[in-house]
Amino acid sequence: MPMKQEYDKYTAEDHEVWSILYNEQMTHLPTIVTDAYLRGIKVVEFQPDAIPRFSLINEALRAVTGWSIYVVPGLIDNKSFFEHLSNKEFPSSTWLRKKSQLKYIEEPDMFHDVFGHIPLLSEPFFCKFLKELSDITLKHIDNPSIVEIMARLYWYTVEFGMIREEGQVKMYGAGLISSPGESKFCVSDEAVYVPYDVKTIFETPYIKDKYQTKYFVINSYKELADSLPQIGELVEWYAQNEVVVELSYS
Ligand SMILES: [Fe+2]
Repeated sequence: MPMKQEYDKYTAEDHEVWSILYNEQMTHLPTIVTDAYLRGIKVVEFQPDAIPRFSLINEALRAVTGWSIYVVPGLIDNKSFFEHLSNKEFPSSTWLRKKSQLKYIEEPDMFHDVFGHIPLLSEPFFCKFLKELSDITLKHIDNPSIVEIMARLYWYTVEFGMIREEGQVKMYGAGLISSPGESKFCVSDEAVYVPYDVKTIFETPYIKDKYQTKYFVINSYKELADSLPQIGELVEWYAQNEVVVELSYS
């Protein structure tokens, strides 16, 4: 029996935490976040003062891209994670950090999973990329080196990706969108931008709990979808040559 969001169990503090985080991010995001995110927020109808209802989000998302939220208790194993993505189900927790943890939490909570990830799931090319990168990963789910390079790809796009729109570099990664600190850093003069390149991403380990030393910048979501054949070919090359990749985390 799949878990459900038990909406009536949220406390006044839970709604207040959503409201504080939502309002803080939305005061500075609109000029520095991808247009697709702003359009997505309208599709899923986020409210500033109340935790979103997953049932309404799912109805809205299914109508535009066929995606929905799949409730999970917290972090899940790689195989289940990519299987859900392959089924167009985005794994999300339902719990929210406490007021005393507004700045930092160790595991992604619902503010990250929902506020950060869900609006982009209204973008068709992004959705195609997410589904097919999961299909490629599942083919090699028992090969830790392939799972590692695909985790790097996921990290540098879905979590920390940036996009050039009308000459300006904006964020689309959920790790950026949901982070009060890094969402400012990634558009500051200190941020380093490099072009999106699958081969380079496969060779770049990732570090948690620190701002990124560089951001991979796409020119469109179609560019992500168009890179899928190259991703597939490179993954086959890694697999056939039995390339051993050091894990960013084990
Ligand atoms: Fe995430």
